[in-house]
Amino acid sequence: MVGESRVKETLKDRAPEEQSEQAGLIQQISVREAAPTEVDPWAGEKVFDLEHVSVSYGSSLAVNDVSMTIPKNEVTALIGPSGCGKSTLLRCLNRMNDLIPSARVDGEVLYHGQNLYGSKVDPVQVRKLIGMVFQKPNPFPKSIFDNVAFGPRILGLGDIDHRVEKALRGAALWDEVKDRLDDNAYGMSGGQQQRLCIARTMAVDPEVILMDEPCSALDPISTAKVEDLMNELKEQYSIVIVTHNMQQAARVSDKTAFLIVEMDAAEGNRWGQLVEYDETDRIFTNPQDSRTEDYVTGKVG
Ligand SMILES: Nc1ncnc2c1ncn2[C@@H]1O[C@H](COP(=O)(O)OP(=O)(O)OP(=O)(O)O)[C@@H](O)[C@H]1O
Ligand SMILES: [Mg+2]
Repeated sequence: MVGESRVKETLKDRAPEEQSEQAGLIQQISVREAAPTEVDPWAGEKVFDLEHVSVSYGSSLAVNDVSMTIPKNEVTALIGPSGCGKSTLLRCLNRMNDLIPSARVDGEVLYHGQNLYGSKVDPVQVRKLIGMVFQKPNPFPKSIFDNVAFGPRILGLGDIDHRVEKALRGAALWDEVKDRLDDNAYGMSGGQQQRLCIARTMAVDPEVILMDEPCSALDPISTAKVEDLMNELKEQYSIVIVTHNMQQAARVSDKTAFLIVEMDAAEGNRWGQLVEYDETDRIFTNPQDSRTEDYVTGKVG
């Protein structure tokens, strides 16, 4: 540190108040002269580690050999053409594929280092910790209050009133519904229903929220509300979102994974393959694979 030693030499001869001023200067110079440290976007805590994950339905391979890590308190987007296995991959993250009898998951999905598919792991507990919001809002034919209270009641959680209010506030819906909590949820607009489903997911205190095209049925204003919400929610939750909307992926996500449909023309087989997974900025401005570039720039879809 040339700058620091030079300032230290001159400092000895100065009055105390000047010395303290100089000491501050030393700090500033030290900071300025320190080699700029690169922030490693992959250095933070991870929620999931996918290791060579493949999913088949019966004898058909749907997703082939995906390895990726999903960071905590970030939004991770899965993008790619229809049929490339985005929903299938998303469902691996909370064992929703268990509910499809023909589905088989190979490879390892580690959740905080633990095998999510381990024999002692309870899938119901998994889905409490890792909640899911679907493409089409799917409220129950119950009151707004009862929709949000449903999960906490089943799990025997206490202080239901407080939980419901907290979840509705968290989903930016409280002000719109606080005076009509007993109304049937079917009377809400689509955008409100989707935020209700997000509140319902949040009401059981998950750690991760998976969203499969959560805005595809929403108008631009409701979409903007849900996108704003995602930005706020990631302080508390880790979010994985599937979207067909490139602008949305670019706006809301920190990391983006791009998948394609691979084809074996001779055999007539098709399966999903991960092409590239990186920081969202890089995927959209400087992708490493030309197929990613073609897709995000709209040359192929
Ligand atoms: N329940 C199922 N049973 C059998 N095959 C399925 C099932 N769900 C998905 N598939 C197949 O798995 C492949 C991937 O489907 P998936 O729904 O995961 O794709 P996607 O990328 O989410 O598509 P989209 O963008 O249209 O939602 C497809 O070939 C699909 O036909
Ligand atoms: Mg899908």
